[in-house]
Amino acid sequence: MTKEPEMTSEFVNRPACAVDVSSEVKKIPLFKVFMPKSVMGPLKKTLMSGYIAQGPRVLEFEEKLKDFLGVKNILTVDAGTHALELALRLAGVDEGDEVISSPLTCVATNMPVMARGAKIRWSDVLVDTGNIDPESIERLITPRTKAILYVHWAGNPANIDRINEIAKKHNIKVIEDAAHAFGAGYKGKRIGNHSDFVMYSFQAIKHMTTGDGGALVCKDEEDHKRGRALRWFGLDRTAIKEELRWYYDIKEWGYKFNMNDIDATIGLEHLKYTEKILKVCRWNGNYYNKNLSKVKGIRVLRQEDGASSAYWLYTLLAERRDEFIEYLKKKGIDNSIVHTRNDVYTCFKDFKDDLPRPGLEEFTSKYVSIPSCWWVKKEDAKYIVDSIKAFYER
Ligand SMILES: Cc1ncc(COP(=O)(O)O)c(C=O)c1O
Repeated sequence: MTKEPEMTSEFVNRPACAVDVSSEVKKIPLFKVFMPKSVMGPLKKTLMSGYIAQGPRVLEFEEKLKDFLGVKNILTVDAGTHALELALRLAGVDEGDEVISSPLTCVATNMPVMARGAKIRWSDVLVDTGNIDPESIERLITPRTKAILYVHWAGNPANIDRINEIAKKHNIKVIEDAAHAFGAGYKGKRIGNHSDFVMYSFQAIKHMTTGDGGALVCKDEEDHKRGRALRWFGLDRTAIKEELRWYYDIKEWGYKFNMNDIDATIGLEHLKYTEKILKVCRWNGNYYNKNLSKVKGIRVLRQEDGASSAYWLYTLLAERRDEFIEYLKKKGIDNSIVHTRNDVYTCFKDFKDDLPRPGLEEFTSKYVSIPSCWWVKKEDAKYIVDSIKAFYER
């Protein structure tokens, strides 16, 4: 029999996940896959077209993504994790280099740093957003620092201007992990327009999905061109003649990270619904902000100046969190911490240090995310608010 993996200390004291909900009680999930029925026609056409690899649908999808995000170039890939690996390589991150990164994110943000053989230096996070604390970045910079990598927690943009200012001062590249933040805005433009590299994930439960997939926006045209080749064995498929492709020289080795026409077909249809999805998530997010901000025991998160969250998650800080989590479950309100702080995992043990991270300590002792996206109707949002109020007022 295989041995149960050991749990990190964060998990050990958590209550079990069994949801004890009688049939009369609502059940509101935290995540749900959105898939429009209208995808079936185009999907069937692509599947039967005789061409399902990276082809015309991928090109068409990239054009639509550029329009949606307002960016001049984009590279679709087969996973957000791979978009990050590509970004790190394009940013010149190599063995022995250092990358400053937030520990509060999906492990998929940080594992690609290890894949490059580089060292992770953990930042602190801001207790009122969960995002990277810009002022904790500078103390970590050394001559080996090549990049700053950070997530926009829950889809709520970090202080991009301040981070870019620090990076510019020290001549370091910036990589935004916008896996949660597709469609979010900052200072009048969508996320994708502000830093050297911006990555998106189109994994199953994201605002926009292709089943699995991702994309990378490169600010620099040369990075974009190089990335277009690196995503497919070092050959830019859009610039070569298909029937002669193996006669072209490969200047540097590449990956098999490209998106295919099947996934792009799903994306093309899904993208038609993104604005609607964003609208509902934002409505619910604002409703929670308004109605929960005065509840004693709850702290709602702040948005940076000029930021407009995509509200992929609605995270709040809760006193008596374990009791609160159990209570929500009994009420049929699904919830989760979603991502554990990465520095507690054994696989990241080499990057441990003794620096204080008060923001991270406090945030992770209280954070929990509640249902907030397109399937949460107005009456569900009201039910959630009323339930939370009842818990803290009893
Ligand atoms: C913050 C964050 N970064 C990166 C990823 C990785 O994206 P993908 O699953 O598309 O590889 C995810 C997850 O899905 C994520 O939540």
